[in-house]
Amino acid sequence: MSHAVAAAAPARWALPVQLLHWLGVLLLLSVATLGLLMVDMPRGSELRKLCYGLHKSLGIAVLGVALLRLLARALVRAPAALPGPAWQLRVARLAHGLMYALLLAVPLSGWLLNSVAGQPLPWFGLVDLPPLADRNPAWRKPADTAHLWLFWTLAALVAVHVLAALHHHWIARDATLRRMLPGRRG
Ligand code: HEM
Ligand code: HEM
Repeated sequence: MSHAVAAAAPARWALPVQLLHWLGVLLLLSVATLGLLMVDMPRGSELRKLCYGLHKSLGIAVLGVALLRLLARALVRAPAALPGPAWQLRVARLAHGLMYALLLAVPLSGWLLNSVAGQPLPWFGLVDLPPLADRNPAWRKPADTAHLWLFWTLAALVAVHVLAALHHHWIARDATLRRMLPGRRG
């Protein structure tokens, strides 16, 4: 830190932002895997019930982590943009903004689907979350479709995001990925 100028932007993302990013990745991977597998499990089976419960509770955790991330982002300073073409910076900002929006919209659409289907939402058996809307069978299908398409839109963005991160790391060989990883060197 001896070379750091007091007024300069930090060299890497603040630790809370890093931890929330990687916790979010783990949660999203588990929720997506559960979601894709659970729908094909035999109806009425204990495993199916368990996976639906976990999918919903972990999905709400994704919503909570996304809100915490937005709070952390508002409170801490982002590192300065690395040198690179201006269009890349604009595309990255747009993609990050869309991912934040979808990290809220995907779980909220799931919560809505659960509500119109008339299902309870006991979050890890600890608190009963209220429904977002009244039970309404006519809204089940549209809510299900919205949940699924919002999910695939997020998945597509994440795929591009991961390729961009790996491109920065292995091909451009800049600090983009390293500064999202805990460590001492910038
Ligand atoms: C980031 C969080 C979430 C992701 C990535 C996600 C993803 C998915 C995926 C991929 C499916 C499978 C859809 C299909 O193949 O038909 C699914 C289904 C489902 N999700 Fe989520 N979900 C999330 C959050 C939630 C939440 C918070 C709830 C409820 C509170 C929820 C409720 C449901 C329900 C009830 C289904 C089953 C729909 C059916 O049986 O047809 N999801 N989700
Ligand atoms: C579950 C999937 C993921 C989601 C939803 C996600 C979401 C995000 C978001 C919203 C940001 C913007 C941070 C901000 O400006 O506040 C970000 C930054 C970042 N992510 Fe991810 N991410 C995911 C997976 C990954 C993976 C697997 C990698 C690495 C291979 C990665 C590497 C990065 C890097 C390096 C940054 C910092 C970019 C910069 O400095 O401008 N992400 N991520």
